[in-house]
Amino acid sequence: MRRVTARDVTAMKAKGEKIPVVTAYDYPMARLADEAGFPVILVGDSLGMVTLGYDSTIPVTMDDMTRHTGAVARGAARALIVSDMPFMSFQAGADDALRNAGRLVQEGGAHSVKLEGGEPVAETVRRIVEAGIPVMGHVGLTPQSVHRFGGYRVQGKAKEQASQLLRDAKALEEAGAYAVVLELIPAPLSRVITSRLTAPTIGIGAGPHCDGQVQVMHDLLGLYGDFVPRHTKQYAQLGELISQALGQYAQEVREGVFPTGKQSFAMDESLLSELLDD
Ligand code: KIV
Repeated sequence: MRRVTARDVTAMKAKGEKIPVVTAYDYPMARLADEAGFPVILVGDSLGMVTLGYDSTIPVTMDDMTRHTGAVARGAARALIVSDMPFMSFQAGADDALRNAGRLVQEGGAHSVKLEGGEPVAETVRRIVEAGIPVMGHVGLTPQSVHRFGGYRVQGKAKEQASQLLRDAKALEEAGAYAVVLELIPAPLSRVITSRLTAPTIGIGAGPHCDGQVQVMHDLLGLYGDFVPRHTKQYAQLGELISQALGQYAQEVREGVFPTGKQSFAMDESLLSELLDD
């Protein structure tokens, strides 16, 4: 079974195949996502919130992304691994961006990078693509700009903003992006953008018309406290299951019920007597 490539992902749109994408941040979850058949696994900078406990993606560093990308790449044998470029790893200029994208591929084992922004980053996208690294774009609510947006709000509701988003997505495609994430934009707008691009759109909170969908693993599985974003459907409540299992383990240790002989290792009794006689 060969590895999925960025070209395969673009071709899925032409074939009318929907593209399911999920995030992963570590080896075991990457293995499970790969075994579940996801063609694309995103090492999102959402790891800052769901695995590192920050309240935004802004503190996430290149070291964080490189380490977690490595864990995911070791866990997934077939999926295309996309690594997010964290805040300030590409905004300061294309040379910087190219070096950092290269690090995610060379040290982290990513097959592609994703970066946030539209027209203003199109030239940077072009430079990275020309260097041989496939780029996934990301427009709409771009969480690294949360302070500019004044919160995690739906983007593109007004006419001027909507047509800017269309120009942004087009600029990314023209710069060579093989797919574009549309985050938190109205469904009718994502339908228009999807119909105008050859590259697939991957939606999150962008309605059903996108060519693919991406969700944060912890949101899907109930692993991120009580908060469930409106655009998510919870397919399992693993948080509750884990709390219950851990509670039972702690109780059994307190009560002396765990471990039993089954979890212990035997030793030759005569050796033990010799030891005691010494
Ligand atoms: O960081 C992330 O997980 C993302 C997706 C939500 C698109 O960028």
